[in-house]
Amino acid sequence: MIKLGVLISGNGTNLVAIQEAIEAKKLDASIELVISSRPKAKGLKRAHDMGLQTMSLSSDIYDLGPSAADEIIASMMRQNEVDYIVMAGYMRKVGEVILKAFPDRVLNLHPALLPSFPGAHAIEQTWLSGVKVAGVTVHFANEVYDQGPIIAQRAIEVPEGASLGELEELIHAEEHKLYPEVLQLLAEDKVKIMGDRTVRIFY
Ligand code: GAR
Repeated sequence: MIKLGVLISGNGTNLVAIQEAIEAKKLDASIELVISSRPKAKGLKRAHDMGLQTMSLSSDIYDLGPSAADEIIASMMRQNEVDYIVMAGYMRKVGEVILKAFPDRVLNLHPALLPSFPGAHAIEQTWLSGVKVAGVTVHFANEVYDQGPIIAQRAIEVPEGASLGELEELIHAEEHKLYPEVLQLLAEDKVKIMGDRTVRIFY
């Protein structure tokens, strides 16, 4: 069983997917704490409604400098004895403070096939670019935003003539499946980092 601390900034649909996988016994984990970088994030209410412990950080804290929020996050996650910090739509960069407190234990989800389309507008950029294959990525975070050893990726064919909204739906649906699956691999200790990449252990 692994203990998770989840970081969000927005809708929190991936947080819900993770909690639902836990409740369905498809994921051997527990969510100990949800921290939002936005007090008004929809995901905070969703977390609260699911009975999860929540906390939010105001933008004033982020304005204090690059590590003020990270200090609070690292300390709260330590207090709650989490094994992994799971970014689920967390639109801030995690820095050295968190990465050092949780080495190789910070995960990120990205709505594109990294290293293509990093950043905050990946789905729109994917759609505008005209690529025929979109996708999602789960990776360990490092000090560069949307970079770090990739654990899993899923490709999604972009349907001919799909609207941005349609593509968004397809990508989110795949994220909701992939993130809990990857977390279960971690719960089973089946992922190892080797240099700049990960390897899957089969046993
Ligand atoms: C997800 O699509 C996630 O991949 C993306 O934010 C969305 C959050 O949705 N993250 C990034 O773009 C990180 N660069 P949610 O709040 O409904 O889970």
